[in-house]
Amino acid sequence: MNAATATGAGRRDMRTWIAELEAAGELVRIDKPVDPLTQMGALMYQCREKALFFEKLPHAWRSLGQAPANLRQAALAFGVPEERLVPHVAAKLGTRIAPVMAGSGPVKEVKFSRGEFDLRELPVHVAGQRDGGPVIGSGLVVTRDPDTGQRNVSFHRLQVKGADKTGILLYPRHSWKNYLKYQERNQPMPVAIFIGHHPLYYVAAATTAAYGDDEFEIAGGFLGEPVPLVKCETVDLEVPADAELVLEGEIPPHIREEEGPFSEFQDYYVTGTGRNPIVQYRCLTRRRDAIFKNLQNGSEMEGCVFHKLPMSATIMRRLRDVGGGPNLHNVGMLPGVFGIVVQMTQRFHGEAKNLLMAALSSEYQHPKVAIAVDADVDIFNHSELLWALATRVNPSEDVVVIPSTHNHAMDASLPEVGAPGTALWQRLGSKMLIDATIPPPADAAARAAFERIRPRNPELRLEDFAAEASLPLVRALPELFFGSKLLR
Ligand SMILES: Cc1cc2nc3c(=O)[nH]c(=O)nc-3n(C[C@H](O)[C@H](O)[C@H](O)COP(=O)(O)O)c2cc1C
Repeated sequence: MNAATATGAGRRDMRTWIAELEAAGELVRIDKPVDPLTQMGALMYQCREKALFFEKLPHAWRSLGQAPANLRQAALAFGVPEERLVPHVAAKLGTRIAPVMAGSGPVKEVKFSRGEFDLRELPVHVAGQRDGGPVIGSGLVVTRDPDTGQRNVSFHRLQVKGADKTGILLYPRHSWKNYLKYQERNQPMPVAIFIGHHPLYYVAAATTAAYGDDEFEIAGGFLGEPVPLVKCETVDLEVPADAELVLEGEIPPHIREEEGPFSEFQDYYVTGTGRNPIVQYRCLTRRRDAIFKNLQNGSEMEGCVFHKLPMSATIMRRLRDVGGGPNLHNVGMLPGVFGIVVQMTQRFHGEAKNLLMAALSSEYQHPKVAIAVDADVDIFNHSELLWALATRVNPSEDVVVIPSTHNHAMDASLPEVGAPGTALWQRLGSKMLIDATIPPPADAAARAAFERIRPRNPELRLEDFAAEASLPLVRALPELFFGSKLLR
């Protein structure tokens, strides 16, 4: 496809996503006025099942939040059943499609220069009681490596600090690496930040691939077509033509200001808080009737869906090749994102530990605890996981702790070294692997000890015997007796 054929027809954006959610009965419209500074966070924090569309916000704004509210809605966005979501995304990560330049796009309908816009008039919400202020949580930040010109796209929290200024948390990864290169040259790093798009763009931005990989190519792979881009007005960067809103500006070298606290993904406030860089904006472009995107963090909120999905899928790809092709079924993240669960059937004794070591040492810094279970354990059902830990683990053999490892700098349970905004920032902690698998099928005698009980005639249905039997109880039966959804 070239620029001339990159039209808006059939392209996915936040509007097609809203329509899709609504058609699936997954969207709740809120037509009463909501104050983003004092009310919106509470409404999103309690809504774990449905997406929310805020129709009456200050300055006539509308906004989408909690979309995807959970992995079920993420599966809807990818068009696959929930239990196949992670393997599907893992497969899609293998396809990269280069973006194309579109002549123009809806995000260019209205343009404002410095002095003509005020970030405080956007419906940016305050997520939690101790937050340092309103934070744009849905901004996807585009930067470039000044040496190679390679693009990077990633999430960064942006605390609103004035009409044209925000803070930014640059976790030591790719965009931080780019920033350090500019800072060494005493130059500001140009940034373009797009807000409001289809969730496949958000999942791509949250994917940590190799340094230099372009997340717009990953988004293209997810979409099955090139991402259409448009040139920015004031910086040498490109942004998606179909975004709702774009902010252009720069991160000056060496400047640090107090930033945070912020309601973060682990459900705590203070990690990352400190003297962090700032962003100065000089241009805002948007659709004429732009819809804002609010994003609530906290354990098991929308932010965690974007953390968990690409992390599980990226690590699943890595595990596929450990030891020449293990029998790997699925990968999932625990709440708080520092725990990972690998669902597999061992081919050999000890194979699970090999996979767990790889899971603890990947592109992602988050995993601290890695657990392996068999295919009969539903890894998205925490009661099943705890049952496997309690009944399939011999602690002296199956739990291994690796001391003195580099851990995620936002894990409050570990000692912090350095400080946010500095080159040394990290947590010096440890990692743990727990092998809760059972012996491999090749050792049938040992495996037999773990055959799960099943009643006689499991196909019988309670409602055929007692009409008043409650629906949830009846629905629970197949999962209770047949374990993992994968096996049904
Ligand atoms: C909801 C959400 C919020 C995030 N917030 C930040 C942030 O404030 N600062 C940061 O450096 N990374 C943040 N991240 C992580 C990165 O955006 C993400 O890991 C991305 O893959 C990093 O890209 P990179 O590896 O190309 O730098 C966030 C991720 C998600 C899903």
